[in-house]
Amino acid sequence: MGYVSSITADSILKAALRRAGVAAGDLDERGIDEAVVREIGRGLSLFLSSEADLRESLAKLSALVTPRVGASGRAPITIDILTETSIVDARLQARASARGLGFDRTDQARITTVVSELARNIFSYAGTGRIVLSELGAPRAGLGIVATDAGPGIPNLSQILVGNYRSRTGMGLGILACKRLMDAFEITSAAGKGTTVRLAKFLP
Ligand SMILES: Nc1ncnc2c1ncn2[C@@H]1O[C@H](COP(=O)(O)OP(=O)(O)OP(=O)(O)O)[C@@H](O)[C@H]1O
Ligand SMILES: [Mg+2]
Repeated sequence: MGYVSSITADSILKAALRRAGVAAGDLDERGIDEAVVREIGRGLSLFLSSEADLRESLAKLSALVTPRVGASGRAPITIDILTETSIVDARLQARASARGLGFDRTDQARITTVVSELARNIFSYAGTGRIVLSELGAPRAGLGIVATDAGPGIPNLSQILVGNYRSRTGMGLGILACKRLMDAFEITSAAGKGTTVRLAKFLP
């Protein structure tokens, strides 16, 4: 197996991030993606003379690439909402999933906002619950989001859905905004049994 010193590795990584247009500080949130792996490969090829070594290194790196949700049989991602920190986890997973599926930055932001909003509602009103992100293949490709909890349910749901309810913050966020930002929306809620929100965003 070939070898590069940690100083060389560091400069290869920095150059790769620059070429892939990723600020070093963003790596934690963005995760490593295909573009970064490709650029690291270009850098490494200058130092590793053996083709086999290069392939092996790239295979290891590729294993670190943020998974594409549900892509070609990959399992859906479940985020358990247990504490306020789970909302951050949900946001990160939502963004990674949206990016992995090829949504543009605007749709990535919409999806992240919706998942964040649903996670916050679960945390605030139901205590705990879960969000599942899955790739939709047929009839249309996209991302499916299901948020469920076994909390108290939403008694004034019909009022909320017709817009006769002013959300706490009045920021135009909340359940109705989630509906507007997505392409498909369905909510069921039963007193004492909990709430389930299903949404989908389709790729253009
Ligand atoms: N998962 C849930 N379980 C129980 N009640 C919920 C749940 N999600 C929302 N609600 C109820 O529905 C209301 C409307 O939710 P919505 O997210 O639209 O607005 P909000 O949370 O009040 O305000 P904002 O989201 O703008 O801060 C909430 O005030 C809450 O009473
Ligand atoms: Mg809310």
